[in-house]
Amino acid sequence: MRPTFPSSLLSQLSEFVAAQTGLYFPQERWSDLERGIAAAAPDFNFSDRESCARWLLSAPLTRHMNEVLASHLSVGETYFFREKQSLGIFEEHILPMLLQSRRQNERRLRIWSAGCSTGEEAYSIAILLDRLIPDLKDWNVTILATDFNPKFLRKAVQGVYGEWSFRDAPVWLRERYFTKRADGRFEIHPRIRKMVTFSYLNFAEDIYPSLVNNTSAMDVILCRNVLMYFTAQRAKQVTSNFYRALVDGGWLIVSPTEASTTLLSLFTPVEFPEAVLYRKMADTPSYQLPSENEKADAANQDRHEAPAFMARHCANQGRLSEALEWCEKAIAADKLNPVHHYLNATIMQEQGLHDNAIQSLIRALYLEPRFVLAHFALGKLHQSQGCYREAQRYFGNVLLLLRKHPPDETLPEADGLTAGRLVEIVTSLLASLPQPATATHKAKNLNSSHRDHREHRDEASSTYFSYSPDGWDCY
Ligand SMILES: C[S@@+](CC[C@H](N)C(=O)[O-])C[C@H]1O[C@@H](n2cnc3c(N)ncnc32)[C@H](O)[C@@H]1O
Repeated sequence: MRPTFPSSLLSQLSEFVAAQTGLYFPQERWSDLERGIAAAAPDFNFSDRESCARWLLSAPLTRHMNEVLASHLSVGETYFFREKQSLGIFEEHILPMLLQSRRQNERRLRIWSAGCSTGEEAYSIAILLDRLIPDLKDWNVTILATDFNPKFLRKAVQGVYGEWSFRDAPVWLRERYFTKRADGRFEIHPRIRKMVTFSYLNFAEDIYPSLVNNTSAMDVILCRNVLMYFTAQRAKQVTSNFYRALVDGGWLIVSPTEASTTLLSLFTPVEFPEAVLYRKMADTPSYQLPSENEKADAANQDRHEAPAFMARHCANQGRLSEALEWCEKAIAADKLNPVHHYLNATIMQEQGLHDNAIQSLIRALYLEPRFVLAHFALGKLHQSQGCYREAQRYFGNVLLLLRKHPPDETLPEADGLTAGRLVEIVTSLLASLPQPATATHKAKNLNSSHRDHREHRDEASSTYFSYSPDGWDCY
C-alpha cells in the first residue's frame, strides 16, 4: 500500500509516534504508519483514518490511548523456530553450559521471551528444553513470555496455530508437539503450554527487573525483532534494563539485524560462527555482595527488617535458596508481618513452588486483606496455572481495592509501581485472559437460570466482576 496521507502529515505523525510510544517510523515505513493508524481508528471511534490522524496530533493522549495506538503500530510477525542460528547456539552452547553449572546445586533455569507476540518463540524454547533435558521434571524451569498487546497474549495462551506459524519449522514439530483439531488448526500439547507463563509488560512504561513481575535473575533473555522498531533512545533504555534483569554471566539474544555494539555497549559480545550473542560479564565472578550503599541501607533498617532486605538482595541476584533462608529468618523474627510472607511467596514462585507460594500469599492476606500486591500475585499465579476464573477473581479484587488509592500513589512492596499503572496492567491482563467458550457459556446460562449467576461486591475476598461459575474452566 502506498501512503495516501500528505507527506507533511506523515512526517508530523512519525515524530509524534516516536515521542509518545518510542516506535520508530522512518520515511521508508510511512506506509506501515498509515496502515497502523487506519487499524487504530475504530478503537478511537473514527471511521476515517485521516481525521483520526489529525485528532491524534491535537488531543492529549492518556497512557492507555498511547498503548492502544502502539499495539496497532507494532508488528506481531513471528513463527516457530524463527532465526534458527541463534536458537542453535542456545541449544548447543548456552543450554549445556547452564545445565552443567546448575546440575550440582540449584537446578534452576530462567528464560524470558521479551516481546513474545503470539507465543511461537516461547513455545519453541519450551520444546527445545523438553527435547534436550531428560530429567526436566527435576528442574525448576521458568519461561516467562511478555508482550503489551493483549490480543497477541490471548492467542499465545490458547496455543492454537495455523499452517503459517510453522512455515520454517522442522517436520517433527507438529507431529510430536501438536494435535490437529477439527478446524484444521494445531493445538500445542498442554504439557508444553504449561511450561510458559504469559504476562503483560510494556517495555516503555513498566518497571523491570522486579520481583513484582518476576523479571529479575534471568539466565537468558530473548528479545528478537522488537528493538528494531524502537527509537535509538528507547532501545538503549530497554537493553540497559535487560542488563540488570540478567544474572552475572546471563545472555541476551537479539536478532542479527539488531546486533549493535553501540546499542549493546554494556554487554560483552560473544562471537559464534553463526551469530553474535551478548553476555553480561560483571567484574565479580558469580556472586555480588551488597554494595556499600546497600549495606548502609541495611544497617539503617530496623533489626527486624535486615533479614528481609537480605532476602530481597539475594533474590534479585537469583540466589534463591539463600533468599529463602533470609526470608525464614525474617518470618521467625516477625511472624505477623504480611510483607515477609509476600516476599516468601515471590521467592517460592521463582523457584517454581507454586502451591507453597499460594499458601504464603493467603497467609499474607489473612494478616492484611487489603494487601493489593498479594491479590495481584495470586491472580498471576492462578493465571499461570490456567485457573482463569480464580485469576479473574483476584485481579477483580485488585481493581476494587485500588479504587481507594490515588493513581499516582506508589504502592507498598511494588518497586515504584503506582496505583494508576497497576489498574492499567490488570485491565490488560484481564483482557488477555482467554474468553470463556461463549456458545456453551450462553447455552448453559439459558438452561440454568437457577444457577448462581451473581455480582460479587464483597471486598478482599471476591470480585465485583459479574460471572457465571460455569463460564470459566480451571485446566
Ligand atoms: C515482531 S514481534 C517479535 C516476536 C518474536 N520475538 C519473534 O522474534 O518472532 C514484536 C513484538 O514486540 C511487541 N512489542 C512492541 N513494543 C513493545 C513494548 N513497548 N512493550 C512490550 N512489547 C512490545 C509487539 O507487540 C510484538 O508482539
